[in-house]
Amino acid sequence: MQTMNVVKVAHKLLLDKLKVSNCIFDATAGNGNDTIFLAENSPDKAKIYAFDIQQSALDATKLKLQETAFLEKVSLILASHDKVDEYIKANIDIAMFNLGYLPGGDHTITTVAETTIAALEKTITLLNVNGIIAITAYTGHDAGAIEYSQLVMLLMNLPVRNFTVGCYSMMNHAKTSPVLYLVEKVRS
Ligand SMILES: C[S@@+](CC[C@H](N)C(=O)[O-])C[C@H]1O[C@@H](n2cnc3c(N)ncnc32)[C@H](O)[C@@H]1O
Repeated sequence: MQTMNVVKVAHKLLLDKLKVSNCIFDATAGNGNDTIFLAENSPDKAKIYAFDIQQSALDATKLKLQETAFLEKVSLILASHDKVDEYIKANIDIAMFNLGYLPGGDHTITTVAETTIAALEKTITLLNVNGIIAITAYTGHDAGAIEYSQLVMLLMNLPVRNFTVGCYSMMNHAKTSPVLYLVEKVRS
């Protein structure tokens, strides 16, 4: 059996919804792996908005997209994800937050609690009913630990009437191994 890391699990769990999604928000483009997955598995008419604060990340994502037939579906946006409402003017069907720093990149450039929480609050507001947000959180570095504790507070307090929040983690791995959260808006 192939090892299922949490990002692969996120992809599997998003697949059915992705096939009927029109507005998709990749909050952390990074090396473009999630962007490619979202573009490959969504309808032709879907639009994917991929954000990153590093031009090098968007360049890497564009390079990968150029090897596919999906470049035109994707808007690459050099901005922090908490500016989501300035760039996405439709309701969102799927959002992916793969938090932390770019593997193989500058580890000091990482997602941080303040902008992550602001971005998530805006995404929750923009999310369509039946829309899903997937968040992969990493606790193994200082900024990640602070971000994680604020993330958990936000997610635990979402009203049960409107949202279902699930989580997935590798229980026999290190305590600091990543955790996946899935937020579904069940009612507006
Ligand atoms: C773990 S990587 C993302 C991995 C990526 N999804 C992939 O498939 O390769 C995290 C990325 O978040 C970016 N980032 C950090 N803070 C950000 C912010 N406020 N807004 C958008 N992107 C941010 C980093 O530059 C980094 O590229």
